[in-house]
Amino acid sequence: MTPPGTLLPVLLSSDVIQARVAELATAISSDYREQDLTLVGILKGSVIFLADLLRQLTIPVTVDFLAITSYQGSGSQKGAVRLVKDLDEEITDRSLLIVEDIVDTGLTLGYLVRTLAARGPASVRICTLLDRPQRRIVPLPLAYRGFEITDDFVVGYGLDYRQYYRQLPAIYLFSPD
Ligand code: IMP
Repeated sequence: MTPPGTLLPVLLSSDVIQARVAELATAISSDYREQDLTLVGILKGSVIFLADLLRQLTIPVTVDFLAITSYQGSGSQKGAVRLVKDLDEEITDRSLLIVEDIVDTGLTLGYLVRTLAARGPASVRICTLLDRPQRRIVPLPLAYRGFEITDDFVVGYGLDYRQYYRQLPAIYLFSPD
């Protein structure tokens, strides 16, 4: 069975990604050493990044996940985001760090930050592996950011095209054909 589309050259190698993840983990371990930290992973794209980041943290931390769907349509639904799996744990007074694969328009995280902030956590910040600022619609402060990339579509290291390619250890440019 052939997956859809075509892999183009590597944009970020596994070594480059792992080195950057280690730097982010060092910064997070230092910044959150006095706090009750919970990593909030957004299913499914963030799972590879979150798993690697988590294993490099040197402070106590809990992990929770949520899943969302976004409507790509037009009209009043455009950009709307709906929670399809909520967190399992209470987050009152905890310091939340949302872990995301890529921030593109910012619509997804704009909605999630608002939703989580309303539940009374100590703080809500964002850690994204990739940032594509050119396409931003909702301005968002990114506390931790792995790499800034251009407008090209990418797959690998958790990022998918029609659910495929998440298992690749590097991030590739991609053509859907
Ligand atoms: P945003 O709400 O536009 O910021 O959407 C971010 C989400 O879109 C990410 O979590 C990804 O699931 C998806 N996404 C955006 N760009 C890419 C890409 O280049 N490859 C794979 N998924 C992407």
